[in-house]
Amino acid sequence: MPYISQSFIDDLPNQIDIVDLINKRVPLKKSGSDYRAPCPFHGGKNSNFAVNAHKQFYHCFKCGESGGAISFIQKFDNLNFVEAIETIASECGLAIEYDSNAKPVDPRFERYRSLSKKVSDFYGMQLRNSPAKDKAVNYAKSRGISGEIAKRFELGFATPSNKDLLLHFDNSEQEVDDLKILGLVKEGQYGDYDFFRDRLMFPIHNTKGDVIAFGGRAFEQEVKAKYLNSSESVIFSKSKELYGLHHARKHSRSMDYMLVVEGYMDVVALHQAGITKVVATLGTATSTEHLQILMRTTNIIVFCFDGDDAGRAAAWKALKITLPVMKAGTTFKFLFLPDGEDPDSLVKKESAKAFEERISKAQPLSQFLFEHLKSEVDFDTIEGKTLFLEKATNLITSVNYEVYQQQLMEGLAQMVGQSIDQVRSVAEQQPQTPELPPVYADIEPDFDDTGEVDLSSFSDGEDLQPVHKPAVQHSKTKALMSKMITLLLNYPALADSTIEVRVRTIENSQVLLELVRSAQIDEDISQSELIKPFQDKQGIFTRLKQLCVLEPHLSEVQAREEFLSILTAIENQQHAEQIKSSIHHAHTLEDQQKIMQGILKGKRRT
Ligand code: UTP
Ligand code: MN
Repeated sequence: MPYISQSFIDDLPNQIDIVDLINKRVPLKKSGSDYRAPCPFHGGKNSNFAVNAHKQFYHCFKCGESGGAISFIQKFDNLNFVEAIETIASECGLAIEYDSNAKPVDPRFERYRSLSKKVSDFYGMQLRNSPAKDKAVNYAKSRGISGEIAKRFELGFATPSNKDLLLHFDNSEQEVDDLKILGLVKEGQYGDYDFFRDRLMFPIHNTKGDVIAFGGRAFEQEVKAKYLNSSESVIFSKSKELYGLHHARKHSRSMDYMLVVEGYMDVVALHQAGITKVVATLGTATSTEHLQILMRTTNIIVFCFDGDDAGRAAAWKALKITLPVMKAGTTFKFLFLPDGEDPDSLVKKESAKAFEERISKAQPLSQFLFEHLKSEVDFDTIEGKTLFLEKATNLITSVNYEVYQQQLMEGLAQMVGQSIDQVRSVAEQQPQTPELPPVYADIEPDFDDTGEVDLSSFSDGEDLQPVHKPAVQHSKTKALMSKMITLLLNYPALADSTIEVRVRTIENSQVLLELVRSAQIDEDISQSELIKPFQDKQGIFTRLKQLCVLEPHLSEVQAREEFLSILTAIENQQHAEQIKSSIHHAHTLEDQQKIMQGILKGKRRT
């Protein structure tokens, strides 16, 4: 595959006009030195979206989306970087310069993908030819999987032996090394061994159809881990992949909806019943990235959960992550199954038609939102209603899609018997939740849900007890702060003086800052030494100990990269906060333009 030359990419903004390019998609109106329109990313009626011809840059004053031509086309047309450049070039009549000497991004990726395919073929062959295959074949039959469906999903068999896979690739040192990197072969005390043993194997494909990882189902109930997944790698990230998406695309005539279920077997069983518009998350909660992929695929996303408490809790998590990314044109629904059933069991019990009927009758998101909140309070009392109102407005304000937010507010006002203005004023009293860059939007503030100490702030005074949280500090920021601390505790060598300088400018970063300083003194410092200075501060110390135990799985370079990108995210967020508050005070167009200049200056620096 040819690669686009870097100089062509660098020069592209000078060759085109961003105003023309955007104007074809979003009609713009001249306003002062900018062009304006309602924002195509978050919706809304007001012309918050500004395009600056001189700077070749766009920015939305409401939702904060901003960037240049390539980024606009990527987001608006849902394209990757190369596709966006190709689109722009063809629209603007430019001939792309390719660079035949340019190296692919990383030659390892291609190698890992082709090895994964070979491994998948090997497991598939074992399902047909291994002397031990009966166990696997009988298991598949007992779960009602037909030969055709086994073939469609390229199911395989990892034999009970602990070296079959290893021996198959034994004559290539490179391949064995790569198998270890992909987590398919492990190094043990008594030598190398296969990670997957005695399991029914499900290859996991990316959207293009490359095998990138595996899931393995144990045959017996007693086995400790019912499912195992291969570890995350440079070609596989659970929060970015959906099991079955490739198959859904391949075997469905339209993509008028997409059902999101919890298990591999659910996807397989539904396909067998003829329901092919289905994907599963890979043993993780639904992430923002999952949602973005789904929103590019279909207009109706139906989350399917068990009807029990765990299912409702998982659904609620999905709802919360959905609200900020909602936009015009996409509908989200929730389907709750009867207690004790999952799609696999239910579709076998009733007909595919009955199951499809359930899909079509799934609850709209708004209904689930209000019903769930109602069930959390004593709605018949004034106190309960007040709590309901506060909880609801808090969630509704996280919706960036203005028209929908308005509808939810109206629905809420009706439920509590107040005017929309009264409800809005409650919303304005709630602390605002600033948006983070999408990559980190799905980091859950799980560390903070435990009622633990807020590590982002403690006073240096008297007894050094944690102080109250600043109201604006959003729980996501705290989660990000915890994540940085975890990285630092596990990879102290990543700290350096530039990081120290940057951390110092972050609000409420005292704990992190102290750790960064200690880590620089001795990069081989142990975790217990690192956290020792905090041992008199009970709450913080306990919290730090918790953060120590997270399993390190990154290389030092990756850890540093991750640390830096979180740091950047927090810095941007802080910057956005400042801009937001200045925008709040900007009443004239002129004021707004000044702010835009400020943003542009900031952009040029980075
Ligand atoms: P479930 O426990 O709901 O299992 O896990 P299931 O899909 O109904 O599986 P069967 O029908 O017993 O075979 C749902 C999903 O959670 C992940 C897997 O992705 C699974 O498909 N999971 C579950 C794990 O990763 N590990 C486990 O030990 C269990
Ligand atoms: Mn099941």
